[in-house]
Parts: sequence; C-alpha cells; structure tokens
Amino acid sequence: MMEWTDRHCRFFHRLLTRRALLYTEMLTTGAIIHGDRERLLGFNDAEHPVAIQLGGSDPRALAECAKIAEDFGYDEANLNVGCPSDRVQEGRFGACLMAEPQLVGDCVAAMKAAVRIPVTVKCRIGIDEQDPEAALEELMRAVKAAGVDALIVHARKAWLAGLSPKENREVPPLDYDRVYRLKAAHPELFIVLNGGIGTVQQAAAHTGVVDGVMMGRAAYQEPWRLLSVDPLLFGEDAPFSSQRAAVEAFIPYVERELARGTRLHSITRHILGLFQGVPGARAYRRHLATEAVKPGAGADVLRGALNLVRERVAADEVAA
Ligand SMILES: Cc1cc2nc3c(=O)[nH]c(=O)nc-3n(C[C@H](O)[C@H](O)[C@H](O)COP(=O)(O)O)c2cc1C
Repeated sequence: MMEWTDRHCRFFHRLLTRRALLYTEMLTTGAIIHGDRERLLGFNDAEHPVAIQLGGSDPRALAECAKIAEDFGYDEANLNVGCPSDRVQEGRFGACLMAEPQLVGDCVAAMKAAVRIPVTVKCRIGIDEQDPEAALEELMRAVKAAGVDALIVHARKAWLAGLSPKENREVPPLDYDRVYRLKAAHPELFIVLNGGIGTVQQAAAHTGVVDGVMMGRAAYQEPWRLLSVDPLLFGEDAPFSSQRAAVEAFIPYVERELARGTRLHSITRHILGLFQGVPGARAYRRHLATEAVKPGAGADVLRGALNLVRERVAADEVAA
C-alpha cells in the first residue's frame, strides 16, 4: 500500500506474523527502470516472504522489472490491476486495465517468461459500467491462459471518474459472492479475497471458500491483529505473546536504522495503532506522534512511549 507498506512497516509486520505474505507499495516500471533501485527495491532479508507489486502495462517493461525484482530476492511479482488514481489512469495501468484483459494476459505472459518466482495479479471485480460477471471472467481467462499463479480480487468495483481513490475503497459495495463464484468456476486456480476484512477471525471464515485472504487497512491501522494470524490461520504459535514484546524485539532494528540516518518518525509512524484498546494506548500514540518527529529523536522516545502503556495484553486476548 502506497506510503504505508515500506520496508520499515514490513519488517515490523514480520515480527507479528512469520507466515503472512507481505507486499511492497506499488512501484511503477518507469521508477524501477530509471530510478534508484537500491532505495526503491532494497529490503531486509527478515521480511521474507515478500511480494513486489508492479504498476505498468508494457509487457516488456514489466518483464524486465519482474526479473530485476527476482534478482533482488523478491518471492513474488504482482501486477496492479486495481488502482483507480488519476495518475495511474494517465499511465494507462492499474484498474483501467480491467477493460483490457488481453493486454493483462500479455503482461502476465511476458513476466512469466522472464522469472521463476510466482507471477500474480491484483484486480477489482470490474470498473465503471462493466458487468462484474463478464469482466472478472474475461480477465480470469486471459491471465489463466498466460499461466498466472494467483489472482487477488478486491471484491468491489472501481469507478474511474467521479470517485477519489479513498472513496473507491469505500463507496462501491463489496461483493464477496462474486469472488466465491469465481473460485467455484476455477477451482484449480489460487484465488485470494480482499476488501473490508476487519479481523483475522473474518479472514479465517473466508479461507473455507477461497484460497487466501489479503488484509489491507486493518493490518496497517491495527497491526496488533497480525499477532493472531499464525495461531488462527496456520495453527502455529504467535512469534510474540504481546505487542510489547514485539516492540522490544523491534528496538535493535530501530537503532540500526537510526544509525544509518533514518528518522525515527518514518519508522514509528507505522506502529501508532499497535496498542489500540489497551490502557495507555492514547498516551503512547501521542508521545510517538509528538516526540518522534523531533530532530535527533532516538530509540529512547520509543522506550518512553512503551512505558506509557499500562498493561501487558496477550495476543489471544487482544484478538478476541
Ligand atoms: C493508503 C493505501 C494505499 C494503497 N496502496 C495500494 C497499492 O499500492 N496497491 C494496491 O494494490 N492496493 C493499494 N491499496 C488498496 C489495498 O491494497 C486494498 O485493496 C484496499 O484497501 C481494500 O482492502 P482492505 O479493506 O483490507 O483495506 C491501498 C490502500 C490504502 C488505504
């Protein structure tokens, strides 16, 4: 997610779940081909498994970028066919590609030919006046013929004119049944459901029907929920028994990053929602929001914030 799932965010999320697949922000082919690759693509080995999301619509450029990403060590290359922003539409990629299923198929085929890692697509159920039955099916057929490894479906339409990207995540109604029908029609394909999933318990309920679930806003804004991913979805122990323990394990990473010149706030901004509902959470959040932005702020600011949280809460309690 743009501005959200940068490498600091992903490193922290990996402390909360060993098993969830983490995704980068969308990176355009132009940025990767012409930009500072180490800054854009560099990540910490601890983040694995991590997928890169690419934005583009030129098969050759996407193939080149998928190969670059594979060489950087990414575990999956995902093509964005769901972003409705004006900037993305001007570049003729993102959600507007829902109207060009054959081009998406060509993109996937080119990426598949270039790499050994899985190539996946994230799409909507349709755009504008499209009929989601036909539009999603056509896209599915095109990417299936191209050998796609999984399709992640944000279960609502995108309206390309008239709605902001934020509204396009809220206004068009969710239609989980459309994604369920897609899975029933293509049982051999790996289908992941996305959109409006607020808890790991809700995610678990969908996994009986589809092969996987992607959580966006809930995972980012309420990251404590990720502590129940491994127990509830994979039957394994959580990496830590509390959010506090996870933050303590995060501090050495924070210190290393500060020593490299990273500003504290650009790391701690991702963990503001960590103690939601726990006594002291507001003070923790306020302390980080006001102190971590100050020049020279160090890891002690984070320790100070942690001291304001009054209770230890076990992962299974907060997940309830
Ligand atoms: C700040 C923000 C940035 C996002 N950036 C991307 C992105 O780069 N690529 C993408 O496929 N979806 C992006 N999304 C959409 C989410 O991946 C997801 O599809 C959407 O929020 C619905 O899922 P949710 O209800 O679990 O959040 C973004 C969402 C938000 C809130």
